[in-house]
Amino acid sequence: MTDKSIESILTEQRQFPPGEDFAKAARYKQADLDAMYASAAQDHEAFWAGLARELLDWSTDFTQTLDASAAPNYRWFTDGELNVSANCLDSNLAERGDKTAIVFEGEGGDRRRLSYRELTADVCRFANALKAQGIEAGDRVVIYMPMVPEALIAMQACARIGAVHSVVFGGFSANSLRDRVIDAGARMVITADGGHRGGKIVELKAATDKALEEGCEHVDRVIVLKRADCGCAMQDGRDIWWSDAIAGQADSCEPVPLNAEHPLFLLYTSGSTGKPKGIQQASAGYLLYAKLTNQLIFDIQEDDVFWCTADVGWITGHTYVAYGPLAAGATIVMYEGAPTYPDGGRFWSICQKHGVTIFYTAPTAIRALMKLGDDIPAQYDLSKIRLLGTVGEPINPEAWIWYHEVIGGERCPIVDTWWQTETGGIMISPVPGVTATKPGSCTRPLPGIDADIVDEEGTPVDAPDQGGYLVIKKPWPSMLRTIWGDNDRYIETYWEKFQNRYYVAGDSARRDADGYFWIMGRIDDVLNISGHRLGTMEVESALVAHPRVAEAAVVGRPHEIKGEALFAYVVPKGDRPTGDDAAELAKVLRNWVGEELGPIAKPDDIRFADNLPKTRSGKIMRRLLRIIARGDEITQDVSTLENPAIIDQLRGDA
Ligand code: PRX
Repeated sequence: MTDKSIESILTEQRQFPPGEDFAKAARYKQADLDAMYASAAQDHEAFWAGLARELLDWSTDFTQTLDASAAPNYRWFTDGELNVSANCLDSNLAERGDKTAIVFEGEGGDRRRLSYRELTADVCRFANALKAQGIEAGDRVVIYMPMVPEALIAMQACARIGAVHSVVFGGFSANSLRDRVIDAGARMVITADGGHRGGKIVELKAATDKALEEGCEHVDRVIVLKRADCGCAMQDGRDIWWSDAIAGQADSCEPVPLNAEHPLFLLYTSGSTGKPKGIQQASAGYLLYAKLTNQLIFDIQEDDVFWCTADVGWITGHTYVAYGPLAAGATIVMYEGAPTYPDGGRFWSICQKHGVTIFYTAPTAIRALMKLGDDIPAQYDLSKIRLLGTVGEPINPEAWIWYHEVIGGERCPIVDTWWQTETGGIMISPVPGVTATKPGSCTRPLPGIDADIVDEEGTPVDAPDQGGYLVIKKPWPSMLRTIWGDNDRYIETYWEKFQNRYYVAGDSARRDADGYFWIMGRIDDVLNISGHRLGTMEVESALVAHPRVAEAAVVGRPHEIKGEALFAYVVPKGDRPTGDDAAELAKVLRNWVGEELGPIAKPDDIRFADNLPKTRSGKIMRRLLRIIARGDEITQDVSTLENPAIIDQLRGDA
């Protein structure tokens, strides 16, 4: 960014305070939250030390809370010891051993329930199996599985013995898997013959075999769960079935006390360069933050049924499926398949069937389901839902309102949670019983999270609605520790910009007159149009607010006079217009955006398409859209796209 401010012209003003009943019954009330803010402001370290002792079971207490001697490689609770799996499982046994920990539904409709006691026994058996296969504390284990309980069991089993897992999303290709296996130097891959997704079988073992063909000699064992019964090759001496690996293993396994800073997992995420980064998380700080935010933001109480729809291949599936909710003693739902299989009512049918009370998903899913019409959710009883959440991208007010009205029956608070793989847990979010929400805003930083918005020099931007860099000014327990094998990149990516003083999230944001944060998009998605800075996501939000628009993505392309021009890809509701109809609709939308945001935001080009290029996780591939908008040759690998065929249409060729 230059020294010019980012101009923000989004004008959402509605406010939604929590309902009285919700506020009264919530775990955290206004007074609790006020006390937390005050305590964090008074003594940041003492605040976190207090929570660490209150919320976690330690084998050895810590004497040092924060070690900043190697900053910005911060370390927390450095001489303490605990075991993450013991905190998620054993700590719950006395009070809720027979309580359901996991309700599982397969895509084909098969169901399973595991109590905390059963889950603990399964984790122990598998932990013993890992040890029997030679896995030791510190070894890296890659998990490449469908969204079934065994994926979570494998993660927890690693944690129990101190192995470092790296979950690779089952939708990634063999090549992506190989890159991650090699970068992590993994000794083992845990996979399944296949998983079910959208009525098809995803052959994970076949992809694993392909991945391991080259450069993965350090992998000497592959454990294979039989899930899809689709048949797969087994390599003698290397591959072993899950059922054989656990046969005869004891259902108890003493959790190993591990140093607070022992790496719990690596999780690969893409950065601005092509090579994925292995985000490294430590044990105690991560667990503390995962448990705290599950209680604070999701208000988890004894009878709740919490469904976070994220796959365990993403950070959300780590913090709000595999670890946090269990540490908080919750019942969670796990679903294997696609949101619209066999039809667009699947999510709502699961909510009804399992009595989901807290539902957490991504705006992209909300928009996709919204597009299918209100009559689908209307066929299901969603009255048990009491709290809704969103994560992953800014939610446009139209989708927010739909979520609020149609899914939440106007009674459920919505927590719009801003965070990142790197932050380990939710950083900026409403606290549901306290915060009045505004559609499209993630509201305020949580207690102990010193988030701010700064300009190019690192000076806080105080004027309301002035955009800037979103930064975190004090370390927090679940911050990434480094990028696996590349600490220089860690410092360069997250710290160097402001001389190691602040963690730089890579997002731009603004703060309104009430102190509410509005995420404007990634720094690299911010455009400069005729000297005006514009968040592309704001233009997208305006576009999708039009009744004819289902989805939109806006990128910049170089423009002779204006510096940059706005190029909008639009997925219309109903049939894709062509010829004169397309020109007419483009004109209507241009004027519409002009009306909504001001003439400066009018897209210069609008191209209609049936879909947008997305990664398997549903993120729009903006880099690719920018290349197409510029008319450049596509040289990047498009094999990880959900829908590679869309490219010709976006180019205007089809
Ligand atoms: O740009 C922000 C966006 O997603 C990025 C983090 O992506 P990832 O590490 O994949 O983690 C996603 C799940 C935590 C952020 O830098 N983002 C995430 N949540 C929000 C968001 N943008 C706006 N509003 C959010 N609530």
